[in-house]
Amino acid sequence: MKKVMKILAAVMASAMLAGVVGCAGAGDKGTKDPKKLVMGTNAAFPPFEYLEGDKVVGVDAEIMAAIAKEMGVELEISDMEFDSLPTALANGQIDCIAAGFTIKPDREETMDFSDTYYTASQTIIVSKDSTVKTSADLADKTIGVQTGTTGSSCALALVPEENVKGFGNGMLAVEALTNGQVDAVIIDNNPAKAYYNENPDKLKLIEGQFDDEAYAIAVKKDNATLLKNINDGLAKIKENGTYDEIIAKYIK
Ligand code: ARG
Repeated sequence: MKKVMKILAAVMASAMLAGVVGCAGAGDKGTKDPKKLVMGTNAAFPPFEYLEGDKVVGVDAEIMAAIAKEMGVELEISDMEFDSLPTALANGQIDCIAAGFTIKPDREETMDFSDTYYTASQTIIVSKDSTVKTSADLADKTIGVQTGTTGSSCALALVPEENVKGFGNGMLAVEALTNGQVDAVIIDNNPAKAYYNENPDKLKLIEGQFDDEAYAIAVKKDNATLLKNINDGLAKIKENGTYDEIIAKYIK
């Protein structure tokens, strides 16, 4: 009996050891698939993410590719509606959100954020001939936003809900502005500039009306392993110049 117990104990100990080693061997990256990092985004947000043909390019795509490389995994990009991202993260359909995604208290309740990698702020876009000069002038206006964004929260703080028109992406909101369906659009400063540059004769930008926002990468709540890997990767690419190169390439 004693011998049996001893053997059993030995078997269990080696099984446990194999379990531990097995985990480390497979590389516990904190990703669903040990070989890849799946990033969720909404690729209609230049210069952070946009389509070039059917390829997602931009600041976030390149930062995440560099972090994935540091982690020794492949990057896969899943492009979806912006307001579907939190659910996709909670479901495990994606490992992280990299989408010019702002750290926000209500988001922090359901996900964890990495160290920040960019400071942005909301910009108001109006048509060239608009009389709007400040956010206060929007009080009786209709505002177009991308649904689920911080731009939407800013608009809701200025006007009644029925005066906020949500669109699937910023470009659609800007089209509604040039068509006269809305009086203004509130969106992050860099995409605002990108949209403006496509139509400088018709549009005007109003900056400096809202607080700064910090972009970070979101992971599923309590996924400390992935969070650490992402933060380590981010620190590395900030240190070795890769981060600066990416920013310089996309933001002039
Ligand atoms: N910074 C804003 C937010 O977090 C807008 C982000 C929109 N991103 C995108 N890829 N469409 O709500």
